[in-house]
Order: sequence, then structure tokens, then C-alpha cells
Amino acid sequence: MRYLTAGESHGKQLTTIIEGIPSHLPLLREQINESLIRRQGGYGRGKRMQIEKDLVEITSGVRHGYTLGSPITLVVSNDDFKHWTDIMGEDPLPEDTQKIRRTVTKPRPGHADLNGGMKYGHRDMRNVLERSSARETAARVGAGAVAKVLLKELGIEVTGYVREIAGIVSDVDENLTLQQRREISEASPVRTFDEKAAEKMMHAIDEAKKEGDSIGGVTEVYVEGMPPGIGSYVQYDRKLDAKIAGSVMSINAYKGVEFGIGFEAARRNGSEVHDEILWSEERGYYRRTNRLGGFEGGMTTGMPIVVKGVMKPIPTLYKPLQSVDIETKEPFNASIERSDSCAVPAASVVMEHIVAFELAKAITDEFPADYFPRLKRAVDDYRKEVREF
Ligand SMILES: Cc1cc2nc3c(=O)[nH]c(=O)nc-3n(C[C@H](O)[C@H](O)[C@H](O)COP(=O)(O)O)c2cc1C
Repeated sequence: MRYLTAGESHGKQLTTIIEGIPSHLPLLREQINESLIRRQGGYGRGKRMQIEKDLVEITSGVRHGYTLGSPITLVVSNDDFKHWTDIMGEDPLPEDTQKIRRTVTKPRPGHADLNGGMKYGHRDMRNVLERSSARETAARVGAGAVAKVLLKELGIEVTGYVREIAGIVSDVDENLTLQQRREISEASPVRTFDEKAAEKMMHAIDEAKKEGDSIGGVTEVYVEGMPPGIGSYVQYDRKLDAKIAGSVMSINAYKGVEFGIGFEAARRNGSEVHDEILWSEERGYYRRTNRLGGFEGGMTTGMPIVVKGVMKPIPTLYKPLQSVDIETKEPFNASIERSDSCAVPAASVVMEHIVAFELAKAITDEFPADYFPRLKRAVDDYRKEVREF
């Protein structure tokens, strides 16, 4: 399984082409729309989310509610494009056009603007920011939504929520099931558990907004139902935890990843880190604890996967940061494009879908995956085999 995305932030549409989804998987447009709508929610999001209501069109690879095994194309049209046709249109500009409107010569700190401009020779850095914008995560959520459908049919569930915003930590009872985590976080405006912490988070978002500042946080993805032994220890590039980490780091503004207790492991003795192995008739092999977050040796243990990602504060600030105009080389205070003050709740939805894609990809790498019923049989057989190991 793999996918490519295309599209500029204020362009006509976002396109995702997904390859490698088995045939005969039931798939509905509504399942993808649900994910896209979840990405657009969350306390602290700005104006843009009101302008676009993301809805998907499936333009290939699905027929009569089932996948064909051929590439699936998802298209999310940009309703706002009608206001951007002259700025973003593909045709050459008329000769009498003096200046392209909304040319960007002032790179914003924390964005791809300056590095991307230098690399691709774009003196109008709109050519960079249009693509480097996190708008692209909508296309990635589309791919993840399809992956989630595949996983669900195999009894694997994935959910994402917020653990921390601006240093305010929301504790989660480790015994909560995935379903409980999903229900509680879905009902929270900041997608978290602890109501007191949620109040404080919303206050922090309001304060940041008032001050023209932005705040970041920590999101967590929780997975139940992955069979043990997915991924591999035999080669560095087959380690599934490494693939997930790389994928999470590829989300805009993500600066770190932890599995289970993560960095805390550095501060504890081994006896307080490693998860003892138990066996029962009812459960087969399992672990007394899950401090390592569901991975050993680059492979799943069969315990829930628990992975956290760190999102830096959004770089576009109403409170300006100093930068340099590339035309005049004069210092200036970076101005804003439309911006949110906190996108951590939305980012938790993005991370959920990014992780889901990696898991579905790992499953389809591991088992025969051309025809969904055959894949399902193979996964069921494998589960039985490892249970009896
Ligand atoms: C869901 C989501 C929404 C985002 N919204 C904004 C935004 O409104 N304004 C902004 O400046 N950055 C936003 N970002 C972050 C930038 O896209 C990101 O910081 C930038 O592309 C530079 O990439 P880097 O931080 O990974 O180096 C958002 C990120 C995510 C995941």
C-alpha cells in the first residue's frame, strides 16, 4: 500500500491516489467524509474551517460500494478556489498584469517558506507555502480513512486524542478501552479525557488567541486488535515502530514521537520498564503492563499500540516574529495568512489516520492482500496460529 497526494492549499482540489487496497473491501464515501469532518473540528480553529467543508468524491477504484483492487482516487474540492482563480490559476498571466496579487516575499519563521524558496528558486514564496501548508493533511486523512476501514474489517481499531496542550496534561485511566477513549474524546471540544484539564486547555487557547500567540501539545494514538509479530526485527527498514515514528514526524509541525512511556524509560530501572510475559487459556500470551506501548524488536506484541506525538505551536502568529524581506533584505515583522491559535485537537485526528495507514500497510505487506476475503482468512489463521504457539 502506498499513496501520493497532490494539491495546493488554495488550489482547485486535493487529490489522493491510494494503491494496494485489496479488492472486495466494502467502502463508502461517508466513511471518508466522517474522518474529514472530524479533522476540521476542535476548539481553537480559525476562519478557514468555516470556509471549507471538506467532502470527498471517489473518482476511481470503487464500484457499487466495493473496492476494485485498482488505484483509488479521492478528490476534495476547494470551495474557496473561486476567489483565488487569478492568484492560483494555471494559465500564464496576461502581459499587462503588473503584479501578481498576494505575492509573498516575506518568509515566515517556522514555515517552509525561506528554505523552500531557496531550494526551488521561488522568489514568490506563495509557490512554497501553498503546498507546505497543513491543508494537505486533509488528503492524508482521506488515505487513512480508507486504511481504517480495512483495519476495522480485520478487528483492528485506531483512535486519536489529545494528552496535553500548552503544558496542561490530561490524565487518562490506563484501563479505559479504546471504545471508551473514543467516546470521551469525541465528546470533548479539545478531544481529551479530564474535564478539568479540558477547561484549562480551552482557557489557554483563548489566552493565546487574545495575545496573538499560538500553543502546541501532545497527541496520542491508541490501537487495539493488532496481532503480534507484525513488522520485523531482521532488517532496520522493516521495523514497524520506526515506520510509524517516521510517518508521525512527517505530519506538519510534529517534532517528536514516543511509544508507551517513551522518554520516561530513560529515568527508570529496567525492572520498571519491561513488560512481563503472561499466558492464560482465555487470552493466550499477554503482558502484565504495556509500558513499551505495544512494540518489542520492531514488531507488535499484540498489546495495544500507544504512540504519542509532539506538535509545536503553530508558526503563523498574529503577534509578529522578525524576518527579512527577500527583495529589500530589510527586516520586518512577519505578517499573517489566516491562522489558528491551536490545532492540536485537529492534529490528533490527523495522527490517528497517519498511524492507521502505516498499520494497514504493514498488514498488507505481511499477508496476501489482493483479495480482501483471502486477506481476512490469512489474518484469522495467523491469529489462531500465534495463540497456540
Ligand atoms: C492540523 C494542522 C493544522 C495546522 N494549521 C496551521 C495554521 O493554521 N497555521 C500555521 O501557521 N501552521 C499550521 N500548522 C503547522 C504548519 O503547517 C507547519 O508548522 C509548517 O508546515 C512547517 O512545517 P514543520 O513545522 O513540520 O517544520 C498546522 C499543522 C497541522 C497538523
